[in-house]
Amino acid sequence: MGWSLRTIADLSDAEFGQWATLLEERAGIHLSFPQKSLLQSQLSIRMRELGYDSYAEYYSLVTDGLQGRLEWSILIDRIAVKETSFFRHRASFEFVRRLLQDKINNQQLTESFDVWSVGCSTGEEPYSLAMVINDCFELAQLEPYYGVTALDISSTALAKGRLGRYLPRSLENMTGEESKRYCTLCSDGSYEVVRKLRDRVCLTHGNVLQIQDMPAVQMDVIFCQNLLVYFRRWLRRDILNSLVDRLKPGGALIIGVGEVVEWDHPRLQRVANEEVQAYVRHQ
Ligand SMILES: C[S@@+](CC[C@H](N)C(=O)[O-])C[C@H]1O[C@@H](n2cnc3c(N)ncnc32)[C@H](O)[C@@H]1O
Repeated sequence: MGWSLRTIADLSDAEFGQWATLLEERAGIHLSFPQKSLLQSQLSIRMRELGYDSYAEYYSLVTDGLQGRLEWSILIDRIAVKETSFFRHRASFEFVRRLLQDKINNQQLTESFDVWSVGCSTGEEPYSLAMVINDCFELAQLEPYYGVTALDISSTALAKGRLGRYLPRSLENMTGEESKRYCTLCSDGSYEVVRKLRDRVCLTHGNVLQIQDMPAVQMDVIFCQNLLVYFRRWLRRDILNSLVDRLKPGGALIIGVGEVVEWDHPRLQRVANEEVQAYVRHQ
């Protein structure tokens, strides 16, 4: 079936319900009714590319076998909101800096400093984390010993992140010093994150709903911002509870301010700082 100019009918309420359920079951993303036209436009663009004009037939494709899995990965890529930037919420990154500096100053850093960026999109967040971490090691004149694992459900976002090249406007929140130290101007006018940071950041495909199936590594920092906001409240709490198991004692979970309310955990202490929403695991 080739690309087609055929008009695709409006998504009915029942069809919207079916697609919204699939999206929520598989990715956690909760679409409410006002987002119907957004979903419809993404579905119809993709259906036109494939020559489909029936939502039901396209639904069968997405939910069937290996080809369905491939098609799902393309579709989720189109639907997920991937907006991000370097140092999107500066205070959260500065919190990581202080945490690591304290560990270094108190000689508590006995092993690699391991960080997880959950819902990392195109890489600006994990690279920003690598910048503050590298700063701390260099300031203390220590050999950098850290790793940032970055996870996302979108393959195209990850591919862009692995490239590590960004338009000048993506660097807007960086200080002049940061961009000078950590980015190189390329001949096409884009900026490339320096190799020493790219070597420390590993961008991997994964679904935050399946954390229990991922290798049971323990982290010093779990950074999860602007992802949970797309999920229902009960799911946000479930995911946070599963992330707690992945924290080293003394490790910190940092989420977007206000993304989760009325949640606490017996193994965590909320950090008294209004600028960030961070929790530290008891020793
Ligand atoms: C709005 S971006 C946030 C990026 C970054 N954390 C920030 O704060 O700038 C949300 C990211 O979460 C990803 N995402 C959505 N559902 C996901 C899931 N179930 N598992 C993993 N990543 C997911 C999207 O693909 C998108 O890249």
